[in-house]
Amino acid sequence: MQTFISLAQIDLTTQAIKQQISIQPVVGIVLGSGLNDLADSVQNAVYIPYSDLPNFPVSTVHGHVGRFVIGELEGKPALVMQGRIHYYEGYSMDQVTLPVRVMQRLGISSMIVTNAAGGVHPDFEPGDVMLITDQLNLMGMSGLNPLMGPNLDEIGPRFPDMSQPYDRAYSDLARRVAKENNILLRDGVYAGLSGPSFESPADLRFLRLAGADAVGMSTVPEVIVARHGNMRVLGLSGISNKANLDGSTVTTHEEVIEAGKVITPKVEKIVRGILCGL
Ligand code: HPA
Repeated sequence: MQTFISLAQIDLTTQAIKQQISIQPVVGIVLGSGLNDLADSVQNAVYIPYSDLPNFPVSTVHGHVGRFVIGELEGKPALVMQGRIHYYEGYSMDQVTLPVRVMQRLGISSMIVTNAAGGVHPDFEPGDVMLITDQLNLMGMSGLNPLMGPNLDEIGPRFPDMSQPYDRAYSDLARRVAKENNILLRDGVYAGLSGPSFESPADLRFLRLAGADAVGMSTVPEVIVARHGNMRVLGLSGISNKANLDGSTVTTHEEVIEAGKVITPKVEKIVRGILCGL
């Protein structure tokens, strides 16, 4: 079901956060499945559970904590989402992307999104990290674009450009930071599906033919909304499992969470390096 959220509602949520913080965050960081630990390094942190906020959806997925952690990371004022909202939880696209709208109304101009993803590129191994260079909006192609409904003219245009969803300068910075830290950083195209079922072997062969290197159930709607408001975006996928193109292996949420333990330290190093260079 489509529920549209107005600017007045977004601003109500934004005000509720503003009242609890004394800093002006400059960057929003979205933590994906199994990557929650990054929020533990936030200094002078203020914790705001999503359930305390008006209009705010609550993340129901195991491995997603469900709160904002607002404070400093590498000396940069940051708003960290410890747990995100997915479309498959039954929320509308407007609800899924409300956190990004709130970031925009808080004056945040940069977003770092992370996720857990299945590796579709045959060379990718569980534990790898992939810089997202572009995205396949498969949800949008079937009518689930988060910008449907009344346009928020105060934030962005009706028909926003998507020629550069992921910021090239930030991507170059991520590559440099990875190199300095001896981290193998893959790069590629992230395909966003609604889930919650994992893909069939035929789905995966289709995605590979369509140019996907990784597949997951998030990120794409958030990035579209971020770009609508002209935020600069960096995207990182933690490859938690290998796509099962021939049906010989089984994919589970447990392995996604398990792989997060190998991926988190690498993602943390890259995110810290980027924050230093912002
Ligand atoms: N498919 C979709 N989403 C995922 C996967 C996958 O294989 N792994 C982690 N998130």
